[in-house]
Amino acid sequence: MRVSVPGKLLLFGEHAAVFGYPAVGMALSRGLTVALQPSKTADATSQPLTIEIGDTKEIPDTVIQRFVAHIETVARSFALSPLAGAITVTSELPIGSGFGSSAALCTAIARLLAPNSRDPHTTWRIAHELERFFHGTPSGIDTGLTTLGGVQAFHFEASDAPRRSNPSVDYAPLPATVAVHLPDCVLTVGSIPRERSTKELVALVGEQRRRAPDTVDAMLSQLGALGETLLRGDSTDSADHTVSFGRAASEAQTILRELGVSTSKLDEILEIGVKAGAVGGKLSGAGGGGAFYLVCAGEEEASRVRRGIEPVVTGAGGTVFSVATGR
Ligand code: MEV
Repeated sequence: MRVSVPGKLLLFGEHAAVFGYPAVGMALSRGLTVALQPSKTADATSQPLTIEIGDTKEIPDTVIQRFVAHIETVARSFALSPLAGAITVTSELPIGSGFGSSAALCTAIARLLAPNSRDPHTTWRIAHELERFFHGTPSGIDTGLTTLGGVQAFHFEASDAPRRSNPSVDYAPLPATVAVHLPDCVLTVGSIPRERSTKELVALVGEQRRRAPDTVDAMLSQLGALGETLLRGDSTDSADHTVSFGRAASEAQTILRELGVSTSKLDEILEIGVKAGAVGGKLSGAGGGGAFYLVCAGEEEASRVRRGIEPVVTGAGGTVFSVATGR
């Protein structure tokens, strides 16, 4: 059985969502494929699950074995049959770069665990539980995008107020989603290798919030609110909407930088992109390097921006591509 799942690009609300503030993101056309070769015997205990992730040597066997054990625990908690056989993962996404490779893997495994489930929310819930392996307190937005696809805004229930005061205990239900129309524009998207993991970056923001709750909550709330810019699309001319989108992205980037989740290389790339003609841009995902996007009015601007940033991005060991948005 083969399952293909898209990657994701968070547009707004990373880190904010972990504490119950809104977020917006989109599924990417590139993603990850998981193929399961079932074991010949019906006895899952004598034929344990194995997972091979492309030609990636970066993921130690011990981590994969712990993930396999986590898959078993999640299967049991949903009363699903355990998986047995050999899983091979091939990815068009750079692994661990903010494009949702781990969320896409969790969604694909959730589909293997519950192949007959017609309810995407069931798949999302299973994927969300699987994603806890990668960082204990996922907000659910990454697996939401890789499961539901499209462009989605996420809103956590008002009953979560005063937000998720103890994010190490996930009391929050999965957020509600609303499909979003993006303005007609082109995103120049890329990623550079990460200096820190999502888990470390989420912990860093949590630590700052413990030290200065009011200041950090105001920053997280603003990060969530900036995403609302995208929800005004239906009442705004597309060119104006693109400008607001780009400006909101740069404003979010300033806050993310203040929170310490950007890097000087990301800041440099975004600055070059804006000088080359992008309306604005920001990191996407947990940061610490990783994914970013620059909002461009059209193809011509996007090519100029791409030409401008490519030497720095590739020099840092990263990649660049374009994503056209629109209705
Ligand atoms: C990571 O792609 C997004 C974070 O907000 C974590 C999460 O929402 O689970 C940093």
